[in-house]
Amino acid sequence: MSPRPDRRPAPDLEFWARQAGQLHWETEWSEVLDRSDAPFVRWFTGGRLNAAYNCVDRHVEAGHGNQVAFHWEGEPGDTRTITYAELRREVCRTANALLSLGLRAGDRVAIQLPMIPEAVFAMLACARLGLPHSVVFGGFSPAALRSRIEDAGARLLITSDGQYRRGRAEPMKALTDEATAHTPGVEHVLVVRRTGTAVPWTEGRDLWWHELVDRQSMEHTPEAFDAEHPLFILYTSGTTGRPKGILHTTGGYLTQAACTHRTVFSLDPGSDVYWCTADIGWITGHTYIVYGPLANRTTSVMYEGTPNTPHEGRHFEIIERYGVSVYYTAPTLIRTFMKWGEDIPARYDLSSIRVLGSVGEPINPEAWRWYRTHLGAGRAPVVDTWWQTETGAVMIAPLPGGPPAKPGSAQTPLPGISAKVVDDRGREVGKGESGYLVLDQPWPSMLRGVWGDDDRYRETYWSRFAEHGYYFAGDGARYDDDGDIWLLGRVDDVMNVSGHRISTAEVESALVSHPTVAEAAVVGASDPTTGQAVVAFVILRGAAAGTPADEVVSALREHVAREIGPIAKPRRILVVPELPKTRSGKIMRRLLRDVAENRETGDVSTLADASVMELINAGLAAAS
Ligand code: WTA
Repeated sequence: MSPRPDRRPAPDLEFWARQAGQLHWETEWSEVLDRSDAPFVRWFTGGRLNAAYNCVDRHVEAGHGNQVAFHWEGEPGDTRTITYAELRREVCRTANALLSLGLRAGDRVAIQLPMIPEAVFAMLACARLGLPHSVVFGGFSPAALRSRIEDAGARLLITSDGQYRRGRAEPMKALTDEATAHTPGVEHVLVVRRTGTAVPWTEGRDLWWHELVDRQSMEHTPEAFDAEHPLFILYTSGTTGRPKGILHTTGGYLTQAACTHRTVFSLDPGSDVYWCTADIGWITGHTYIVYGPLANRTTSVMYEGTPNTPHEGRHFEIIERYGVSVYYTAPTLIRTFMKWGEDIPARYDLSSIRVLGSVGEPINPEAWRWYRTHLGAGRAPVVDTWWQTETGAVMIAPLPGGPPAKPGSAQTPLPGISAKVVDDRGREVGKGESGYLVLDQPWPSMLRGVWGDDDRYRETYWSRFAEHGYYFAGDGARYDDDGDIWLLGRVDDVMNVSGHRISTAEVESALVSHPTVAEAAVVGASDPTTGQAVVAFVILRGAAAGTPADEVVSALREHVAREIGPIAKPRRILVVPELPKTRSGKIMRRLLRDVAENRETGDVSTLADASVMELINAGLAAAS
């Protein structure tokens, strides 16, 4: 019997083959896309390449060694200029250091570092050796770091003595030690000296970067890896309490990272100065600070600190100093700039700006206009880029020079990408209608799975519209009358706080791990600056009864910061006698969101006990 013909619509394989062809391949691929085992796919099968060689060495070999790769700016004002030639030397030394520790292709390396050049050296050294890295955001707690180290089975942790936060040197190694005390799989901790902060030290396990790396040879010959060799794991929040290790591989990821970076920003490596303000601990930092820009031989700015240290004009000062032409940031920061006032950017010469990018959450039209007016002199295009940790690279965005931009709309899928807005049953909705955003064709930088959990991969992304074979993004969206796409935010229990994904379940499980809490429900309430804010409703245990509410609340906020990280700290915690539940025991977050956003409570008819909402409202009224 002959196999059934594959009737699925095919992505534009020729387009993607052309894009991949812009990279250096040691061995050409034999097949562009293999989806015989969908939803697991393979791109550029048989091809072999080295990601770090593509990001660094090939530019040096082509005579661009003197081009600046990074203008790095430290929070205290120290700076460092790193050319491609120097980047190559640093990456080689770091790779040699990792080899000297006995690490071999396939071993995992955890990285928790501030925004310092060593973070880039470390990632690229891992890529060069085929060691999948797992970068953990510097603001994550020891508990969060520990679970990520354990899940990935990392053999090495790379960290720093401390990190600068708002003008102060905060400890880092002391915290990572709390994590590594429980992760015997970590054989070594490599420590960058950044702040000079005193650190606890475990002889034999801990090593200073400047002692180990600096004495290594600056030469290292890279080896090519299979296109599907794991490049990195990046943990992200899902709808359950446990973060998922999103797995990205080498060839497809690098192809799409480079291609999107080039096209979305119409980037010219010879003249542009590009600055993506994300942290390296998020996907935006991976794809648009490290892999995409470097694969395209971009000159980038990298900044270590917070935007208001030592003053609120810091970003504008940096734009002026380096002549930044492409600036890529998040709506939450734009709204913060708006709050600080337009007179601040007005003090600086921002005329170098050519393109402005936005990512992380829907950008409200007001912020879009402010951004264009006050950073883009009223003329720079604003590209609103929709994508996810899972998609690896931008999927939906208006291209500069394309049809007129619409403030607040990500508009259209990029070339080679297909996205649809569908109803409950997977049927495409019409113009002017809303529904669920799906990706109906595979794309090169798509996640290849959830680390160590194939079922979770199938269940989370592919079960909702299994019949159609669609990837469900978890976002709601709408077509306007022109058929352009408007993103409407998450439709699941994932919150978006300042562009950071936080799951309600994760915060709830942190809260109930505190001895005073019997039950907790968390919702994301809309917030004018951060997009959403975490609001928690807690039922206290009897034993906590006598303690004043303020004390309980501040202890709980600190507890969440300790368990997950300061970004997950609830803005408000409301102590309530009951939680609204359906007859099957499911918490009705919709009603809690009404309370959190100070709205009239919606329909309560499906509650097991309709009086619960009255009780909650009455209790809150009495407390305020
Ligand atoms: C949201 C960040 C609207 C969305 C790259 C998505 C956006 C989640 C946009 C992924 C945008 C990101 N417009 N919403 N331009 N960009 N989102 O994994 O809800 O940290 O599902 O990746 O952020 O967040 P993640």
